[in-house]
Amino acid sequence: MTTLYEKLKNIQVDNPLCNYTKERCERLEPLIEKINKLKAEKNALILAHSYVHPDIIYGVADHVGDSYGLAQKAKITDAEIIVFPAVRFMAETAKILNPQKTVIDPNPNGGCSLADSITADQVLALRLRHPDHTFVCYINTTAAVKAACDVCVTSSNVYTVIKNLPTKKVFFLPDKLMGENILNYMRENNIDKELLVSDGTCYVHEEFSCDEIHFLKQKYPDLEVLAHPECTQEVINASDVTGSTSQILNYVKSHKDENHPFLILTECGITSRLQVEHPELRLVGTCMMCKYMKSNSLSQILQALEAPTKEQIITIDPAIQDGALACVNQMFRHSH
Ligand code: 13P
Ligand code: SF4
Repeated sequence: MTTLYEKLKNIQVDNPLCNYTKERCERLEPLIEKINKLKAEKNALILAHSYVHPDIIYGVADHVGDSYGLAQKAKITDAEIIVFPAVRFMAETAKILNPQKTVIDPNPNGGCSLADSITADQVLALRLRHPDHTFVCYINTTAAVKAACDVCVTSSNVYTVIKNLPTKKVFFLPDKLMGENILNYMRENNIDKELLVSDGTCYVHEEFSCDEIHFLKQKYPDLEVLAHPECTQEVINASDVTGSTSQILNYVKSHKDENHPFLILTECGITSRLQVEHPELRLVGTCMMCKYMKSNSLSQILQALEAPTKEQIITIDPAIQDGALACVNQMFRHSH
């Protein structure tokens, strides 16, 4: 059996939290064993976002992916318990899809600068001012905000959903930068819709700048740059490929034989996943960490599986459950 150290030894992200020595891995292994045993006993499923610590991804997760892929897994599981190391809104989405199951968010700090940037009351006030608009929210929103909107999107299906919507007037919230990128996409693809956007941002992705892209493109003329659509429009325009976290991963994996360097402009979790799964890749430049995603830990997951606190068990107000579910289901409907 491959040890945790064997799996994680190639991770080279410039942060002590991402430094997996042999000793550290050996300390983590008993925790992993306990979690996996308990998981089987309790018929629990662990869904981990690609941004969480690699010891969670490669030690205990049943599925790893982006917000859309994990929502799809949550939709079809027959496990009795879902443990969701990621951020709060992702665990909430799993609960919206599974009102009868126990959904656990082990993370004590599961915020998200986007989800925290708008409330349902603010959405309802916007709806009064824009009664003819279809309200599209990013999946990075609370359940209450979803219930106040018509359809949600993720970074992997945003362009498809917007294009497929039968309406001409769309209000997109809360990510201003993704909204600007949608406007750009609509202009480039002659999609004739009116799009209003609100003013939230992801504190991680808004930090990437074109300076690093230009500097590295000079140093490596064959560099390929991949960016998440939460980055600024300037960064997206200077990049070669735009996509969700899973789309970035899949693109790099399928172009790995071209043997040129890649610059990955998203959270460090994607870089570390590529370093684990394809250590031969040439990854250059820096990445940024999301403090919310990185608040998940193996010890919290074990504690939450053994005896979750009230705060770790997701509940959805019955008054908003149907509205939030309709919003998420509309996304599945328009994603193809
Ligand atoms: P994905 O939809 O690509 O998983 O992104 C979620 C997220 O929070 C990005 O910052
Ligand atoms: Fe939210 Fe940004 Fe963290 Fe994603 S990376 S969870 S959008 S704060």
